[in-house]
Parts: sequence; structure tokens; C-alpha cells
Amino acid sequence: MWAFLLKLTGTRFPTLCGIGTKLQVHILYSELPLPQVLLILPAKKLGQVSHKFHEDVYTYGATNLSQKISLGDTDILIPKMGIGAWAWGDNYWGNLENDSLEDYQAVFNRSLEAGVNFFDTAESYGKGQSEGYLGRFNRDVDQVVLIASKFMPYPWRLSKVDLTSALRSSLERLHVAKIDLYQMHWPIPPVPIKTWMDAMAQAYQQGLIRAVGVSNYSRRQMLKARDRLAEYNLPLASNQVNYSLINRNVEKNGLLDLCKDQKITLIAYSPLAQGLLTGKYNTNDPPPGIRRFRYRKGLLKKNQQLVELLRDIGRNHGEKTSAQVALNWVIAKGAVPIPGARNVAQLTENIGALDWNLTQDEVAALDRASQNL
Ligand SMILES: NC(=O)c1ccc[n+]([C@@H]2O[C@H](COP(=O)([O-])OP(=O)(O)OC[C@H]3O[C@@H](n4cnc5c(N)ncnc54)[C@H](OP(=O)(O)O)[C@@H]3O)[C@@H](O)[C@H]2O)c1
Repeated sequence: MWAFLLKLTGTRFPTLCGIGTKLQVHILYSELPLPQVLLILPAKKLGQVSHKFHEDVYTYGATNLSQKISLGDTDILIPKMGIGAWAWGDNYWGNLENDSLEDYQAVFNRSLEAGVNFFDTAESYGKGQSEGYLGRFNRDVDQVVLIASKFMPYPWRLSKVDLTSALRSSLERLHVAKIDLYQMHWPIPPVPIKTWMDAMAQAYQQGLIRAVGVSNYSRRQMLKARDRLAEYNLPLASNQVNYSLINRNVEKNGLLDLCKDQKITLIAYSPLAQGLLTGKYNTNDPPPGIRRFRYRKGLLKKNQQLVELLRDIGRNHGEKTSAQVALNWVIAKGAVPIPGARNVAQLTENIGALDWNLTQDEVAALDRASQNL
């Protein structure tokens, strides 16, 4: 094991760049901007290297370095795709008895191997189970893991203290000192957005979070959050919303364009329409659990045609699957998809959406086919 230290132009001290094998040195050296000095140390000389180094660490995994992008207007680098952990232990999904801790652990490990080190969870997922699993897996690895979690402003949570105390419980479950991206889960009344943003800013100042995000916020709500945070010189890093070929509201209502304009990352949740875009669900074989009521027969029928097109397009790119094409489409639109995965087979398929690009014509064909769903 080696630790890579790189001094970048304009910085006083070398920065820890990564932990890994010798092979990575070459990648780091050739692709980072203007390195001045490259130091390579045996990792053990740095002592216990772990996620505690978060703030100063720039890490790169096995995927191409060009795959990393900034999270909003922050210095946090994330992969072009993250992993959603809602299904880990949450009854919403149905058939939970078929999942195992080993499945989730394998998803986590395989993601890191692929350089996809950005995980999304929430205090409400599985009543804290999802955060608990993530914390447990994270404890055992040396790589940097970027964690996004969420605060649910339940209507009985009425003051800033409620956010701080929920955040502290999340930190405990996640076994970290700091959450990389802390998001407001929903814009639920009665507490005004500015009060929650004050609480977020306070958490930032206390060193409990690295960046602030929102979720399910409209354009107006997002701008309110952004303006309040600006009073603390803090950027609003992201808005996490439902976005897929089945749900293109953010294109229609202008949220996607506004995010791009304001350097706010649009994180796309349910990018596979909760499994529909994989093509495995149809009228004869509907999804289990609550999804059965959410995705009605009419939509399942229309979805079949879309899946056929996704498969056709996938054939132009070395047998990519419909899920991979659907995720690549989200990336092509400038959003960061966070597909959920319940086992390593799903995860492996989903990360196959990275490192290649749909053509403009293919994106346009998918736009047309999904226009009236
Ligand atoms: N902020 C919010 O309000 C909000 C809301 C929803 C989600 N999210 C976040 O976004 C993440 C992703 O969204 P999502 O989980 O709703 O939907 P999704 O990513 O569109 O779908 C995930 C589900 O599809 C199935 N699946 C995934 N990959 C597959 C593959 N390659 N082959 C076959 N089946 C596959 C799995 O369920 P089955 O095997 O059971 O079909 C999986 O749980 C969540 O985990 C969560 O972190 C946030």
C-alpha cells in the first residue's frame, strides 16, 4: 500500500491524494493539473489513514479521473454517478427478506472498487437502518467515502435544535465526524426555509457537515435556500429531485436549467423509475410492495416501448442494457443519478452506465420517446 502526496500549484503543503497501488501514481501524475512535487510514502508512515482525512483529501478510484465533477460550487469532487441506499433495510421496497447484509456490503465494496464513492442515504430510510449499514461498512475501509444524508423536517420538528440533534444521531449511525452533504429531505411546513438554512449554516460552522443541499425543492424554494445560505457565504451545493426518462418534470419546469445556471448540482433520484427502466417489470410482472400501486398498468405498458428503444440504443454501444442507457441519458442531461442497488449484480450493471456517452441523436430519440409518458 502506498500513500500519494501531491503539491499542487498555489498550495503550501502537499495534499494526500490517494491510497493504493503503484499504478495509480502514474494516473495521478499525468492527469492532475500542474503538479509540482510528487511524494510517495508507504501508507503506514501516515498512521491510520481513514475517512477522518476527508477535508484535505482528493481521492481517485479506479474509474477515469475525468469522471469526477464538483459538487455544486464546492471543492468536493464526486463521481458522475452515486449510489442510493434507500432500499437497504426499508420496507417500501418489498421482498426485503430476499436481501442480506452481505448483499449490501458487496454493493458498497464493489462501488468503491469502481471509484464510485458517493452514497446517498437519509435518517428516515429503514428508520435509520440504511445509515447504520453504511456506517458499519464505512468503518472497515481506508478509502474516502462521500456520504450524503438527509434531515426530515417532520411537522413536529419546530426549531433549529431539532436539526442539530437529528444530525448528531445520523453522525453516530454513520460513524463519521462530518457528513459530506447534508440535505433537507422535503420542504415541509410549518418551519420557514430560512430557519432550516440557519440551522444548516450553524452545523457547517460547527464542523458537522461539509456542504448543504436540499431535496424536492421547487425553483422558488431552492432560490430562497440559496439566498439564506449566501448570507453565511455558503453555497447551496445541490437539489435532489425525481428525474428519469419516466419523470422529466425538472426539464419542463425549468429547475434543471436553473441548477446549471446557479452551479447547483441536480442529483437525480429514482433515475431508473424504481426499477421500471431496467425492463424487468411489466403488466404480467408488476413491481412488489408499494410500487405496485404507484406504477399502474397503463404506465407499465408504455414503459415497455421505451425499454425496447433503450435496448436498441444499447446495442450501438457494445450491448449496454436498458438500465445503463437510461442512467447515461440522465448524465447526458447534466444531472448526477444515484440509482439504488440491492445486490452486487444490480450495482455492477448500473456502474456500466459510466465511461461512455450516448450520441446527441440518441439522446434526442429518447427525449421524443419519453415526451408523453
Ligand atoms: N430525496 C428523496 O426524496 C428521494 C426519493 C427517492 C429516492 N431517493 C434516493 O435516490 C436513490 C435511488 O432512487 P430509488 O431507489 O427510488 O429508485 P431507482 O434508483 O430508480 O431504482 C432502484 C431500484 O431498482 C431496482 N434496480 C436497480 N438497479 C437494477 C438493475 N440493474 N437491475 C434490476 N433492478 C434494478 C432495485 O429494486 P428491486 O430489485 O426491488 O426492483 C432498486 O432498489 C434512493 O436509494 C435514495 O437514496 C431520494
